[in-house]
Amino acid sequence: MDTKIYTKKDLKLAAKDINDGELVSFPTETVYGLGADATNEIAVKAVYAAKGRPSDNPLIVHVDGPNMVKKYAQPLSPEAQSLLDTFWPGPLTIIFKLKPNVLSKAVTGGLDTAAFRNPNNDVTLSLIREAGVPIVGPSANTSGKPSPTKAEHVYHDLKGKISGILDDGESKYGVESTVLDMSTDTPAILRPGAITSTEIEKVINKPVLDQRTKVADNQVPKAPGMKYKHYAPNAQVYIVDNEDEWKSSVKWAAEQNHPVGIMADNKNIDKYDWSDNVETFSLGDNVNSASHLLFAGLRHFDNEPEVKSILTQAFSSDGIGEAYMNRLNKSAGQVHFNLK
Ligand code: TXA
Ligand code: MG
Repeated sequence: MDTKIYTKKDLKLAAKDINDGELVSFPTETVYGLGADATNEIAVKAVYAAKGRPSDNPLIVHVDGPNMVKKYAQPLSPEAQSLLDTFWPGPLTIIFKLKPNVLSKAVTGGLDTAAFRNPNNDVTLSLIREAGVPIVGPSANTSGKPSPTKAEHVYHDLKGKISGILDDGESKYGVESTVLDMSTDTPAILRPGAITSTEIEKVINKPVLDQRTKVADNQVPKAPGMKYKHYAPNAQVYIVDNEDEWKSSVKWAAEQNHPVGIMADNKNIDKYDWSDNVETFSLGDNVNSASHLLFAGLRHFDNEPEVKSILTQAFSSDGIGEAYMNRLNKSAGQVHFNLK
């Protein structure tokens, strides 16, 4: 199959492909998604096949606004309603209890809940409206690989497997949405993202379970998908935590007989005298640009198979830094440079 590249003017064609049960990748403010008609079970199953995704990992249902949610979810609590009023459209995915038998098992992984998201991207909102159905959308990468933040990343992973990609340039945030479970008595963050638990607590006036409240790692609530290997490039990623480690990394890199990748902010890249076998990839000037560029950097080094190690800068876990460190820890398999 030829994978088409649609632009905004091809919206009607992309919507028709969705209605015909085809797979269309769509842009969002977080990362690109792999879209299919959420009401078409065969199309939804094809999404798992194209990504190589385990079937027990449920999909997010993308909607054009709260009304589409109300068709499928049990009546929303006042807290849930105020979250939608405050954060939608935006990078907050919310899990609600479903009415019985409204969405296929392929979407929910057999759970009695589903995750809903109203992306803040005009092209994709128009696509959902034009198609007239909610659109499932996992990140549009091969399962296990970094999420795509540009149409060309999607093309790299899924060309020939999907009908088309709706190109709307680079994703703004670069890390996936916050996933918040509102189907339980105490709301819980299952995946950190741009919207933080503190911001959510301000709106619902009650505590939210997350990493801060954890007693042991296995007590932290997690989305089913978070147990799988994730965001992993071919090279080993090492987390570099502080200035002392950057200093030793310069020496370590110079001793390697293979090319070494460095992903750091401009300050660190400029500060050190890197050896000739080092290739740097800038994460910009701060944690916001670093979140935006993390997956793109990991993908950049995947195109250079001779790079076997990627040393990547840690940032403090405040605000979007929590999402950044969550994704970096996964891509590194929790391996830090100081443990080398
Ligand atoms: O930013 C995003 O959320 C992107 C864009 C495309 O919208 N989508 C995305 O989807 O990251 P995906 O499939 O890569 O991640 C969805 C996460 C998975 O970890 C999945 O297990 C979890 O949400 N999830 C989905 N439905 C769930 C449910 N009913 N209960 C608990 N977790 C759920
Ligand atoms: Mg994903």
